Amino acid sequence: MSIAAHISEVQAYIAGKTDIKPEIGLILGSGLGVLADEIETPVTIPYGEIPHFPVSTVEGHKGQLVIGRLEGKSVCAMQGRFHYYEGHGLDEVTFPVRVMKAIGADKIIVTNAAGGINESYKAGDLMLIRDHINLTGRNPLIGPNDEGMGVRFPDMSAAYCPDLRALALEVAQQNGIKLQEGVYVGMLGPSYETPAEIRMLRTLGGDAVGMSTVPEVIVARHAGIRVLGISCISNMAAGILPQPLSHDEVMETAEKVKHTFLTLVKAVIQKV
Ligand code: 6GU
Repeated sequence: MSIAAHISEVQAYIAGKTDIKPEIGLILGSGLGVLADEIETPVTIPYGEIPHFPVSTVEGHKGQLVIGRLEGKSVCAMQGRFHYYEGHGLDEVTFPVRVMKAIGADKIIVTNAAGGINESYKAGDLMLIRDHINLTGRNPLIGPNDEGMGVRFPDMSAAYCPDLRALALEVAQQNGIKLQEGVYVGMLGPSYETPAEIRMLRTLGGDAVGMSTVPEVIVARHAGIRVLGISCISNMAAGILPQPLSHDEVMETAEKVKHTFLTLVKAVIQKV
């Protein structure tokens, strides 16, 4: 069966659960799923119950779709996402983005935990993604193109919507939230980078590094969805500080910035 057929099936399945047509999709990264807990009149669907949905395995990821209202807008949140390093194909990693588009989303807010490459950053900073560098060596659009879903060669010159970025900066300022802005480098993982690799990424123009986001954003742009990306700098990347990197630190920092992150994203949703 084609991806388009799978999407129609999921669309029908979700339509059987809620009448809400979410205008904004939210993809919530490691430790940032708390935002979905704030959704009002939520319809919660575990990934395992959704036809053709993969099941996520990473600690700190709940694995459910939450559809409801947030700050006066209808939203669809992924509490937990899929990563290539888990062994999922990029078609699986990006399938939820296609589903969000099918059920009505024309904007998505993509969030992640990322390592700081820019030495002026500190763990706990939030970074608005201005642009990305795809260093995964893969692309989710490889294969025959379904013209009904998007063009063969999608433009990526404004992958992260300039209007949404301006709005995020404005809202951050209004709420007294420090918001860095920089370039996200997408790596495959699951090992973190070496100090030499981080020096290379800095030379290439990267400000933060992570293992997600890039495939979803490519597919979102293919689908004509406007994207806002926010990284939580959960730790500094390798070779900057003396201590080794750990997923525990990623989760601890996410816990600490939770409040600021929630304030920022909710204020953006309200004003969008
Ligand atoms: Cl330092 N690297 C990568 N690839 N992903 C991360 C990270 C670093 N910190 C959090 N996620």
